[in-house]
Amino acid sequence: MKVPLSQPEVTEYDIGRVVEVLRSGRLSIGPVLEAFEEACAHVAGRRYAVGVNSGTSALHLAVRALGLGPGDEVITTPFSFVASSNCLLFEGATPVFVDIDPQSLNLDPEKVETAVTPRTRAILAVDVFGNPADHPRLLDIARRYGLRYIEDSCEALGSDIDGRPAGSFGDAGAFAFYPNKQITTGEGGMLLTDDPEVAALARSMRNQGRGESDEWLAHPRLGYNYRLDEISAALGRAQIERLEEIVARREQLARRYNEALGGLPGIRLPRANLRGRMSWFVYVVEVDEAVTGVDRDTLQERLLAAGVECKPYFPPIHLQPFYQERFGFPEGSFPVTERIARRTLALPFFTQMRPDQVERVAEEVRRALAA
Ligand SMILES: Cc1ncc(COP(=O)(O)O)c(C=O)c1O
Repeated sequence: MKVPLSQPEVTEYDIGRVVEVLRSGRLSIGPVLEAFEEACAHVAGRRYAVGVNSGTSALHLAVRALGLGPGDEVITTPFSFVASSNCLLFEGATPVFVDIDPQSLNLDPEKVETAVTPRTRAILAVDVFGNPADHPRLLDIARRYGLRYIEDSCEALGSDIDGRPAGSFGDAGAFAFYPNKQITTGEGGMLLTDDPEVAALARSMRNQGRGESDEWLAHPRLGYNYRLDEISAALGRAQIERLEEIVARREQLARRYNEALGGLPGIRLPRANLRGRMSWFVYVVEVDEAVTGVDRDTLQERLLAAGVECKPYFPPIHLQPFYQERFGFPEGSFPVTERIARRTLALPFFTQMRPDQVERVAEEVRRALAA
């Protein structure tokens, strides 16, 4: 039996809530989205949450609502999912990559400060693998230089740092609900903010640029169809009710993995959040070939052959072909990111993963390294 990399957990309760919507006759722009938004605002400790059809859409609307565009530099991380940087390109803003801290794998605040120029308008920080970036320090830099702050918490629903939830920092933040996330809506995302103007702009732009009054066919600004339908919102609304339990079960799984893989020479276990709760998104190990004698790609091939799904995660954004073509970053531009990215491998990890599956993965890792 294969062990999948990821699998959404959908319970009978969730299905019941979705069926209710299907029977209600109201499939878009309705009360279930509002309830889901309220629940997300509560988790993030925010005044406003605006539901959209993906995490990427939430980030795009954040960039637009904050008025970032051509000529504006935005400091961000090259060690992330490509959408956290693409959302800047959508608006013609320039991503200025800064290398990561080798401990947290998140933006290194010291390097961020040295990258500020007169053209810098914002910082976009990502909570990599569910581990919050050092938002208190980064936000302090943003405030000192008069920069806007965007928080990509697409991987960190339920995490916190220094007693504050992921999604609670900065001018705007984003959650994402793809099926590999802590909770899912199938496709979906959420923009988070305390700023009524940002919230109103995001609400308008997700709905074809309609005005506050929602008057039919009145479009004061350019907008999109980024709406989150009621069916998707019903799934998210049902799942977020058990977020605490989900976070706890994933934490337990991560612990089990740590025990099963601990002490394996050359396998570095994932870094935990040392400043608060970690809502585990993925379980990513680092392979030190100098010690294991087996490189990451060979380990991946052997695990796949043994029926254990796994993936390199993340390839650096600045080395993606499209970014190479456009910006021409030479290899070695961000050495920490590149070194880590050559070593990282995401192992199977999902809420309803069973202890025997964790043991099986660990056993196959051991076997693959010994082969
Ligand atoms: C860090 C990060 N940013 C943005 C996104 C984009 O989310 P979505 O896939 O919902 O567009 C994701 C999720 O895949 C992500 O992991």
